[in-house]
Amino acid sequence: MRIIITESYEQMGVEAANIVAGQIYLKPDSVLGLATGSTPVSMYQRLAAVHKSVGLDFSQVTTFNLDEYIGMSPDNPQSYHYFMQENFFRHINIRPENVFLPDGMADDMVAEGERYEKLIASRGGIDLQVLGIGQNAHIGFNEPDVKFAATTHKVELDEETIQANSRFFNSVSDVPRYAISMGIKTIMMAEHVILLANGRNKAEAVYKAVCGDVTPEAPASILQLHRDVAIILDKQAASLLPSAIRGVQITVK
Ligand code: GLP
Repeated sequence: MRIIITESYEQMGVEAANIVAGQIYLKPDSVLGLATGSTPVSMYQRLAAVHKSVGLDFSQVTTFNLDEYIGMSPDNPQSYHYFMQENFFRHINIRPENVFLPDGMADDMVAEGERYEKLIASRGGIDLQVLGIGQNAHIGFNEPDVKFAATTHKVELDEETIQANSRFFNSVSDVPRYAISMGIKTIMMAEHVILLANGRNKAEAVYKAVCGDVTPEAPASILQLHRDVAIILDKQAASLLPSAIRGVQITVK
């Protein structure tokens, strides 16, 4: 595990975008795992800017998003399909047929989970997975639980997550109660992982992810067992971390 601590939210996005861009330069047909939420927006903006300025080419890239709300169609402005179009895909030259998200409108979520896993495998697996982190240390929508959920599955959202995500909705009662999310195994199978976090409200979750016990009570803690993970933080999100952590390389930008 390595940790990069940056001065600001914008700088966090730049560092993350550099890693994603490097992946695409090295392997133009990379398969990226992508995240929604406010955290990765500065990374998406930077990648779009690099696409515009120096022609970073997404024409052979495939993307798989982590999750989607159940019951939300892609044209619903609060769906993650819509979020990704608005914040990223419409600004780059990715091919629509290479963009995948779980289908929140599927009738059978077990079958949809299986379909999604097969799709990922058929594209050769995920090269680089981008993650945010919930205040309760969830990744994707893998909420704290008594066990790690393996593959893409239906999730009942925690009250804390519903409250946190209500800022994107008119009222808390509009937030869906269920989602479909990649599982922990899906995420851990990725070759490389980057986790982004900014703001003081993520500092406890980051501490648990990096320094806590590996436990399904703090799903992000599983990343301590991944062979290639970079945690990219602004200084507020890093504020509870000790200055040295055994086995972890810390870079302060
Ligand atoms: C959401 C998403 C996660 C995201 C997290 C943090 O509910 N399912 O993938 O990483 O919560 O969101 P934000 O970046 O808006 O703080």
